[in-house]
Amino acid sequence: MNPLAIIEKFYTRGTKSYRILVEHSRIVAEKSLEIARSQMHLNPDLEFIEKAAMLHDIGIFMTRAKAIGCTGEKPYICHGYLGKKLLDEQGLLPEYGLVCERHTGAGITRENILSNHILLPQRDMVPKSLEEKIICVADKYHSKNPKYADKKITTSQIIDKLGKINKDHAKRFSIWADEFNL
Ligand SMILES: [Fe+2]
Repeated sequence: MNPLAIIEKFYTRGTKSYRILVEHSRIVAEKSLEIARSQMHLNPDLEFIEKAAMLHDIGIFMTRAKAIGCTGEKPYICHGYLGKKLLDEQGLLPEYGLVCERHTGAGITRENILSNHILLPQRDMVPKSLEEKIICVADKYHSKNPKYADKKITTSQIIDKLGKINKDHAKRFSIWADEFNL
């Protein structure tokens, strides 16, 4: 399976969204592999991590996010589960779609979706496998927004930012960042 070939079915090379998606995905794949290589005692699947990280944000084009060239209909938060649907329809192993669905924030619990009336399917979207956790964590260290894309993001900045959205996000992220020595 070639992640770029799948991306190019839905994005046109040279467009803003393509450039931003592919650059961000490469950065997240690199960071994910760096974390995974520090956790070899847990036997992470490196080949899966690299490919799944390249595909984790494939759903963004279906959302409204002008700053990154996306002109879809859905709210941005939907890009995770939309990416899952797309990869499932492409016939990929379900593990790839789950990485998409579970990478936003520090995962989103069903309880959070229900109590805050978040416009998402009512199911738990928290990373469970080691590979899902690694990619979710690595994703937080790079912003797709061109305004911030060159900025180095620290672990404590991520925790602060997640804490402003939801304390549980910050807690979950902190636990994983600790486990991965970040
Ligand atoms: Fe991402």
